[in-house]
Amino acid sequence: MTLALDVDVFTLFPHWFDWFRGQRHVANALALGSSLECVDYRAHTPLRAGQVDDTPFGGGAGMVLRVDVVEAALRARYGEDPVTLRARRRVIALTPGGRLLDDGLVEELAAERELTLLCGRYEGFDERILEHFCSDLVSIGRYVLAGGELAAMVVCDAVMRKLPGALGHGESAHEESFSAALDGAPEYPHYTRPAEWRGWTVPDVLLSGHHARIRAWRAEQSRARAEQSGGASLS
Ligand SMILES: C[S@@+](CC[C@H](N)C(=O)[O-])C[C@H]1O[C@@H](n2cnc3c(N)ncnc32)[C@H](O)[C@@H]1O
Repeated sequence: MTLALDVDVFTLFPHWFDWFRGQRHVANALALGSSLECVDYRAHTPLRAGQVDDTPFGGGAGMVLRVDVVEAALRARYGEDPVTLRARRRVIALTPGGRLLDDGLVEELAAERELTLLCGRYEGFDERILEHFCSDLVSIGRYVLAGGELAAMVVCDAVMRKLPGALGHGESAHEESFSAALDGAPEYPHYTRPAEWRGWTVPDVLLSGHHARIRAWRAEQSRARAEQSGGASLS
């Protein structure tokens, strides 16, 4: 895991990330040396009137983000051909059909020193962007959002909370759902005061003060949840 991470997000809506930067663990990570900067495709487009997209060849609804526009934005930011950039820096397109984000991928990304996230809009990316400029295609789930900005925030949220110090004192991303510490299983249940509410009690073992038994109970609960389809369910 890296100590600090520099993330560049390419987007048509850079101001969306102002709110995100203020979230506690993100703000903590930024204060500890990480960065989260946005590059506006429109600010670098070589086309007139801020054009960034165009109609799809072959017809069909919607607009497609242009390859020349994305190349111009990447060149402006990194001063090199994006075809070579991806060999030294992970350039990740957010796209519904990409590799599903899970804790393993989050750990992998948290070990990088720098990341570039490309947000699509409308119908998505011209395929040549994915093919020639990107090292990874990542999806946050098998559903379709209107744009890649929320997906980029999901990636950054999950990755930045893994960085040392991001969660602050007393919180840890070490032993939680899907972590190696729990063998990839969902986390065990938590309870706090009151010990009884409307007749709903807390498992005795958690009130016993017996640390070894508590550890064993938690591991067992975590395993049981992994065996249930859908993992931890509130229903
Ligand atoms: C409306 S979507 C494009 C959907 C595309 N036409 C398709 O059917 O796969 C516009 C953009 O939102 C982002 N996006 C939407 N759903 C996403 C998901 N599940 N994971 C990651 N990015 C997503 C991508 O950047 C995408 O280019």
